[in-house]
Amino acid sequence: MKPVSVHIVDHPLVHDALVTLRDRATAPDAFRRAATRISVLLIAEALKDLTPQNVTVETPLGPAPGRRAGSDVVVVPVLRAGLGMLDAVLELVPSARVGHIGLQRDEMTAVASQYYSKLPSNLGASYVLMIDPMLATGGSAVAALDLLQQAGATVIRMICIVAAPEGVALVERHHPQVAIYTPVIDVKLNAQKYIVPGLGDFGDRLYGTI
Ligand code: PRP
Ligand code: URA
Repeated sequence: MKPVSVHIVDHPLVHDALVTLRDRATAPDAFRRAATRISVLLIAEALKDLTPQNVTVETPLGPAPGRRAGSDVVVVPVLRAGLGMLDAVLELVPSARVGHIGLQRDEMTAVASQYYSKLPSNLGASYVLMIDPMLATGGSAVAALDLLQQAGATVIRMICIVAAPEGVALVERHHPQVAIYTPVIDVKLNAQKYIVPGLGDFGDRLYGTI
């Protein structure tokens, strides 16, 4: 089995936004902006190998050759925290089709259960971006990736903002073909299965539900 490829996106602007997200003093409005900012950079990196389509456009001074991003892109936020990364994808790829997967970790057991799924058809020929900022135990990621695979997705990239070693290992075991894009792999999970140092509960900080 091919090992999962983890792409560490190490850009100064990525780290700048990550510090804002980690800071406990960051309020939801600034948190949302930083989430979009970091996501733009992560998504751009994850789509670096999009198949280009050669085109010619007319500038005011004459024809200019160029390249359009030719591939079909499907983005799938894992609700609810993944919604904080969606605007970034749609800004970069306005034509992207959007699926949704709803998963919720149980507060006591940290086991994720599914409450919603609506995916576009014909995923087989698409670049599928699964966006979920936190990869902790990996339970949610594996459940979402199972659904995407059952729906026919073959080229899948997972974009997250903070990953834990345990989550990376679980994805590697269950979905070795999936590439993970993340700025950082943090130290560990705590007893409540939160990432340490992490940034806390992403969904709660994004929506001010703490
Ligand atoms: C968070 C996060 C991931 C999951 C990661 O969602 O957005 O989906 O936890 O944890 P895991 O790797 O241990 O499964 P949560 O279940 O808290 O739901 P929310 O996005 O609605 O807040
Ligand atoms: N979900 C979060 O939002 N944060 C964590 O640290 C783990 C799971």
